[in-house]
Amino acid sequence: MLQAIDLTKRYEDGILALDHINFEVKEGEIFCMLGANGAGKTTTINLFLNFIDPTDGQALINGIDSSKEPLEAKKYVSYVSENVMLYGNFTARQNLDFFAKLGGKTDMTKEDYYAVMRQVGLQEKAFEAKLKTFSKGMRQKLGISIAMIKDAPAILLDEPTSGLDPKASAEFQKILLDLKEKGKSIFMSTHDIFRAKTVADRVGIMKEGRLVMMRTREEFLEENLEKLYLDYMQEKSA
Ligand SMILES: Nc1ncnc2c1ncn2[C@@H]1O[C@H](COP(=O)(O)OP(=O)(O)O)[C@@H](O)[C@H]1O
Ligand SMILES: [Mg+2]
Repeated sequence: MLQAIDLTKRYEDGILALDHINFEVKEGEIFCMLGANGAGKTTTINLFLNFIDPTDGQALINGIDSSKEPLEAKKYVSYVSENVMLYGNFTARQNLDFFAKLGGKTDMTKEDYYAVMRQVGLQEKAFEAKLKTFSKGMRQKLGISIAMIKDAPAILLDEPTSGLDPKASAEFQKILLDLKEKGKSIFMSTHDIFRAKTVADRVGIMKEGRLVMMRTREEFLEENLEKLYLDYMQEKSA
């Protein structure tokens, strides 16, 4: 569903942010990408979303090249950013309504919005509360519910658990597993090795624009993922 083929990005100022990255995320799979700040995780996501164009290679969504047919490719993907962009003076429901309509969904009722907010575990009293009163965890849940309304087969998440307290992070994990159960393909960048270990079918480690390690669930459960990660971080780049 999501496929990076020799995906490469050199920014205008000459920085090689991504150097021939290859990976695939199939239906019902969660792929977690680890890596220090500046490793290239957000660049990877931005290429799938065609916020930027690749220098070389391809980012395919459902087999569609996101830089050649961006509008078609975007039909199959939802995106939740690190700091979900929501309107502070709108209520949770009004935010959902705004983004649903922006995405072309015009037949959603108040009850539909309430149903999806319940699904992500947002408390009832938050449904009609203004966004500016929300905690980070609540905003993140609303971000996920916006993605769920679109009901795209692929979901890209950029550091979704950064800044969440342990309870919110655990709730978030449950939502991810629900989505996986529904057959979604999930690509998530994260610093949270613990969370990656619990949900990921596959884990990658990026370093200075290169994918230096990739392990299946079976493989990383047999090894010590924290140690692997630290070993790769310490190694001088070849
Ligand atoms: N718009 C940009 N212009 C130039 N360089 C950028 C831009 N965005 C990111 N970079 C650089 O690309 C590299 C990868 O960044 P990024 O993809 O944001 O990493 P990560 O999300 O893993 O922290 C870094 O060296 C960063 O400074
Ligand atoms: Mg980033």
